Amino acid sequence: MMGEHLPSAASADMVNFDDVLSAAAHVAGFSTRTRTLVSPSLNQRTGRELFLKAEHEQRSGSFKFRGALNAMLTLTPAQLRMGVVAGSSGNHGHAVALASRLLGATAVIVLPHDAPAVKREAVLALGGRVVRYDRMHELRDEVVERIARDDGQVVIPSSDSVAVIAGAGTVAVELLEDSMPLDMLVVPVGGGGLAAGCAIAVRALSPATRVVGVEPVDGDDTRRSLAAGCRVGVAVPATIADGLRHQMPGRLTFEVNRRLLHAVVLVSDAEIVDAMTALYEAEGTAAEPSGACALAAVLSGRLAAAPRTRVGVVISGGNMDADSAHRLIAAAPCAATAQRATSGSTFSGSARETGWPPQQPVRRRTSSGSS
Ligand SMILES: Cc1ncc(COP(=O)(O)O)c(C=O)c1O
Repeated sequence: MMGEHLPSAASADMVNFDDVLSAAAHVAGFSTRTRTLVSPSLNQRTGRELFLKAEHEQRSGSFKFRGALNAMLTLTPAQLRMGVVAGSSGNHGHAVALASRLLGATAVIVLPHDAPAVKREAVLALGGRVVRYDRMHELRDEVVERIARDDGQVVIPSSDSVAVIAGAGTVAVELLEDSMPLDMLVVPVGGGGLAAGCAIAVRALSPATRVVGVEPVDGDDTRRSLAAGCRVGVAVPATIADGLRHQMPGRLTFEVNRRLLHAVVLVSDAEIVDAMTALYEAEGTAAEPSGACALAAVLSGRLAAAPRTRVGVVISGGNMDADSAHRLIAAAPCAATAQRATSGSTFSGSARETGWPPQQPVRRRTSSGSS
């Protein structure tokens, strides 16, 4: 039995709002309806009304649970008995491992050698088997395909599948329920599934809302691909946003995003650290670097949003250990200070002077049953 495969000529019509609606119905009994945070201090700092979708409080610690579970709910009992295999930077693997435990399946998760230990350990704690690969010398998809071919598991793609994109789109459905009308929705982009799913939901529910993707400066494969009009690959990105170190957009995600994304903006690692710090100070809640990218685009001023506009921001994940957070703060130049110096913002204090990172290991508020 082989894994799920997309036809090579992917078309944006392959996934639509009905898929998002049925994903919402399917995952509802399992997923957390995460909060939409409104922070007076972040609103004051940016001069915009921000609505922060707290997907770092989702089960498994990221939005990835929605797509992983939705994909696995399409499997037959026989497929579930064979088990699943997934390639991941960490969060998708964690989500697949949790979904597998809930559905009584086995999971093999293919992670890069340099995946954060906290993400690898989460998979193991859920009973998943971890296979590591060297991202400098091996292609993840080839490793996944080999395992699926040899052992018969079903492949659960991290973003490039109808079910995964539709599951991710449920984030925007909930956010729009909480915050309509929105002028803009800002989402991080890795493989592009979150952006594609959210853009499909926004087109159906709030067509005037612009959807903007955010990538790290080093890791701008989607921005380059959209500019070129075809999928373009980049070298292995070097960024603290470990969930966004993708080298090329997916076929289907690219087709959707080229039609529906308004723009893609880039953020630096220092800006990401500033956003993590600001979120923690404002709301006492911790995002991982990839999870803070969309907020970084807003706080850094890289997002072209007029004053007082209503901006939805997806905080997409929070899987990080406190040691890594400390290292990031120590290593990063303080973007916040530089930005404030030029913008005249009233926000005070640099990353190194604040209570961030927390002294205790980062823990999410909701019980995920995941670790
Ligand atoms: C926390 C987090 N945010 C965003 C993304 C990007 O999601 P996508 O691959 O659907 O673009 C990822 C991907 O792993 C992630 O882990």
